[in-house]
Amino acid sequence: MYVDNASAPARKPVTVPGLRAMKAEGRKIVMLTAYDASFAAQLEMNGVDVALVGDSLGMVVQGHRSTLPVTLDHMVYHTAAVARGLSATLLVADLPFMADRDVAHALEAGARLVGEAGAAMVKIEGAAPHILAAIKALVARAIPVCGHLGLTPQSVHKFGGFKIQGRAQAAADRVVEEALAVQAAGADLLVLEGVPVALGERVTRAVEIPVIGIGAGPHCDGQVLVIHDMLGITPGKRPKFSKDFLAGRDAVAAAIAAYAADVRSGAFPAPEHCFN
Ligand code: KIV
Repeated sequence: MYVDNASAPARKPVTVPGLRAMKAEGRKIVMLTAYDASFAAQLEMNGVDVALVGDSLGMVVQGHRSTLPVTLDHMVYHTAAVARGLSATLLVADLPFMADRDVAHALEAGARLVGEAGAAMVKIEGAAPHILAAIKALVARAIPVCGHLGLTPQSVHKFGGFKIQGRAQAAADRVVEEALAVQAAGADLLVLEGVPVALGERVTRAVEIPVIGIGAGPHCDGQVLVIHDMLGITPGKRPKFSKDFLAGRDAVAAAIAAYAADVRSGAFPAPEHCFN
């Protein structure tokens, strides 16, 4: 059986400028991860705006304890598979650990993920000087960039675990400064992960680019979840900021549609999914 998304309802392709228009119009952006063509087609058919091939695949697909073992070849392989399942959904792919170690490596990764695998945008973690230089270089070559701040999983060892960031005033101020720097470097989108609700709101108001939250509260311009978490697939404790959307439903498609509806209405994330 091949992945047939021909029956997906026709909709206008989601574009990078279109994401900014959604923020300006107050329309919530729905983002979910996908790692293969079949799940990508489910996202496509259920009206998800943005598909993210996250390096979280190292944990939920490959079974590692962090995202660090994921290579550029892995990312290109999964991104190409997801691209085959999509048509209107915007495709974003992660730069894996150390693919951003200098501008030359970041450009090589961007060229492969966009040119070879079919992504429309690449995501890069942090706001250190070499990351800002990489963002500028990618954008100068017409490769749109999504930043990623807060609990950046590639910094797990520096953080001493997957810990909520920006709780102290100075740390929160730093995240806001980083968001402004990532925007100034040319990023068109920002993922903000694992921060208190108030900081999620502050960052979302501080920047013009759309902010997609994951464990960053309800005030962000959109939400993203790891699909294995929101379908309750991976055994073990689900992160507090996630929700099992399959529970009480009888199909993956119904769960994805419910997630999209709850993000758009603001029903998700609820207070029990947030950090204060
Ligand atoms: O790798 C990933 O899936 C991500 C999301 C958790 C935002 O970066």
